[in-house]
Amino acid sequence: MKVLFVASEAYPLMKTGGLGDVCGSLPAALKALGVDVRLLLPAYHDTVRHAGKLKTVAQLRLANLAAPVTLLEGTLPSTRVRFWLIDFPPAYDRPGNPYTNAYGHPWHDNAARFALLAHAAVAIARGDTGLAWRPDIVHCHDWQSGLVPALLAQSNPRPATVFTIHNLAYQGLFPYETFTALQLPEQLWSMHGLEFHGQLSFIKGGLAYADHVTTVSPSYAREIQTGPLGLGLDGLLRHRRATLRGILNGIDVDEWNPARDKYLARPYSATRFAGKAANKRALQRAFGLPPTTGVLLVGMVGRLVAQKGVDLVLDALERLERLPLQLALLGTGEARYEKALRAAAARYPGWFAVRIGYDEATAHRIQAGADAFLMPSRFEPCGLAQLHSLRYGTVPIVRRVGGLADTVIDATKANLARNAATGFAFDGARAADLVAAVERALALYRDAPRWKKLALNGMRQDFSWRHSAAEYRWLYQQCLAGARYGRGAN
Ligand code: ADP
Ligand code: GLC
Repeated sequence: MKVLFVASEAYPLMKTGGLGDVCGSLPAALKALGVDVRLLLPAYHDTVRHAGKLKTVAQLRLANLAAPVTLLEGTLPSTRVRFWLIDFPPAYDRPGNPYTNAYGHPWHDNAARFALLAHAAVAIARGDTGLAWRPDIVHCHDWQSGLVPALLAQSNPRPATVFTIHNLAYQGLFPYETFTALQLPEQLWSMHGLEFHGQLSFIKGGLAYADHVTTVSPSYAREIQTGPLGLGLDGLLRHRRATLRGILNGIDVDEWNPARDKYLARPYSATRFAGKAANKRALQRAFGLPPTTGVLLVGMVGRLVAQKGVDLVLDALERLERLPLQLALLGTGEARYEKALRAAAARYPGWFAVRIGYDEATAHRIQAGADAFLMPSRFEPCGLAQLHSLRYGTVPIVRRVGGLADTVIDATKANLARNAATGFAFDGARAADLVAAVERALALYRDAPRWKKLALNGMRQDFSWRHSAAEYRWLYQQCLAGARYGRGAN
């Protein structure tokens, strides 16, 4: 079974968030199950630097491009997963974020850059590259690869297509003129195709044309079929519900392992849990927080965007100040949030510390050093950060939405009594709701043996890829069997 992953990031080649984690770790898990997965990614400036040894394996001549595109081959570090990078410097040879410029604005030519990714994927899928390898299934991730299922649907024969929604809020919307400029097939312009209220929607290419659509948690799969989280695409998703599944993300349990984490002050595990205290002290030091014991140290790591409930945290600070806790936050994102958080850190020295930036090592150190991890997302397709916390015995405090609802078991009386609780979940989206959840956590934190039990429960959960990779393999088998809703459904 040969599967081509098409994505805009895959750790460690490129990562801005969970999409990178998933595309960097799921392929190896699938490979362990006997699926021959290969990855296709743009050769961004920083990617080429992290890619190790690369060799040129093909030159592609793509419609619309005057110059040929080079395909570079490498192997994902610590795995046997092969990847191909699309080397076309005018589109991808730019340092930094793959989607935005230094001012945080989308690159002016994003539509063309990700259309190029799609055309290269289609060329490989159709065997137009001279490569001996051709996929049975093309598995696309998020809007950047959305044109692939749409373009492949125009060919016959073609491989099966799977499209995974990691975040429906990013849709790749562009004016109609872009559709013309990209010279996409005329028949794709319809309300049943790429058109979305007069605009070109890349994500609709995946949602409307892929043989199977998946998203990254069962709850999010339900949420996007109704009301506000459907973002105007709920009708289409309801229409596709027979072929829409929620498959929970896993995490890379080697990369995220407190017993062997190279970034930590001291390794620890469920049986050597005391080692976590050294990481707490190190984190307090690194963030300039007083080395007080007995305060609940709460960590946060994430993209600073509305999705993550940053405004909720900002609104809650005044009330949180009265509680015996410290808050250490690492993030980067929208300028308005970065500015507000910096200002708040200056206003609340000694208990609220902020690091603006993207830094893997600090992310690991927060997960290890904090007692609790805050993730008050307004919506969350799956969320990996809370899975990292569970693995690190750092009790998550989350809003009960999407994947957070599916992965954190609230410390209700009943769940505590049957020793099933793993964290704290709250429903409302006001600062008061967040504060109430933190107060519940504090109450339990005062009872050290019960807190430890809660943390160890989290550590015992299995969020490796084992289960979910098997689900993807099952789905691929359905594709190959040309199952009931398989090819030609559109
Ligand atoms: P999302 O994909 O919406 O950003 P996830 O929780 O699924 O959210 O994944 C976030 C991933 O990105 C985690 O691996 C987290 O550690 C990482 N991450 C987010 N922000 C930062 C940052 N500023 N520095 C380092 N890692 C970060
Ligand atoms: C997206 C979502 C996040 C999910 C990640 C990986 O970025 O925001 O919830 O975990 O993709 O699927």
